[in-house]
Amino acid sequence: MAAQTYLSELFSLEGRVALVTGGSSGIGRAIAEALARAGASVVVLARGEAALDFTVTELTAAGCRAARVTADLSVRASVRTAAEEAAQIFGEPDILVNSAGINLRPPMSELSDDVWDTTMAVNLDAPFLLGRRFGPAMAARGYGRIIHITSQQAHRAFVHSGAYGVSKGALESLARSQAEAWSPHGVTANTLVPGFVPTPLNAHLSANPTQVAALAARTLTGRNGLPQDFASAAVFLASPASAYVTGQSLFVDGGFSVH
Ligand SMILES: NC(=O)c1ccc[n+]([C@@H]2O[C@H](COP(=O)([O-])OP(=O)(O)OC[C@H]3O[C@@H](n4cnc5c(N)ncnc54)[C@H](OP(=O)(O)O)[C@@H]3O)[C@@H](O)[C@H]2O)c1
Repeated sequence: MAAQTYLSELFSLEGRVALVTGGSSGIGRAIAEALARAGASVVVLARGEAALDFTVTELTAAGCRAARVTADLSVRASVRTAAEEAAQIFGEPDILVNSAGINLRPPMSELSDDVWDTTMAVNLDAPFLLGRRFGPAMAARGYGRIIHITSQQAHRAFVHSGAYGVSKGALESLARSQAEAWSPHGVTANTLVPGFVPTPLNAHLSANPTQVAALAARTLTGRNGLPQDFASAAVFLASPASAYVTGQSLFVDGGFSVH
């Protein structure tokens, strides 16, 4: 019981509200579930209603508090509307997870204005707009946790990094800017950096067993990532336990990045 109390003091999210973009699939889905099971009321946000509904139904059936907002984060007006809608469900979020992302991967020489703009809108502008909407209020309340999901491609070029790598590099800078602005007031901003995690985002790559095996071989653990690998790291970064960790990039990649 003493251990239980100690762990709760460190990691419980009871009474907290979280907004998880991309919370209907892959890494965002696993993080939404982890935060909800740790006690937070969780709003998941994405475009596809069926996957959102499925997520909310599953979380609610597991005894969690969950709700959804349907929005397209590539459109600034939708981001603003969705933020207000999300805040009305369980109250202003204490935890913001930016997991929604797209990776369109055209060769660099063929990278169109459209692909560049859409990539930046979803992967970078939306996290900025949501942070600007919720960060100051978190700071005023003295507690906040912002978690961005970036990529190996924020740090190194591979597999047509193109606009995607640029957007993720900038997202790591955004976390540092947010940390500088709001950490004096109890708000941390950090990023989780995945290795390769087979999800709908990279369905094309995942369908190639040779490439999947080659990526697994590049890790130190000998396997590719699973969405559930992000659960504990997300709970840590969302919890009181991580109060002195800010502006950091935490690699959850089986050692992919270190050799
Ligand atoms: N999987 C990997 O290997 C890997 C590696 C490095 C980094 N990451 C990053 O991890 C994050 C999650 O990726 P994942 O692999 O979990 O991908 P995923 O399974 O494809 O999930 C992406 C999520 O983002 C939502 N989304 C996409 N475009 C959106 C838009 N315009 N507006 C609102 N929501 C949108 C999707 O829902 P809808 O399509 O219904 O909108 C979905 O919920 C991304 O930021 C990605 O860049 C993934």
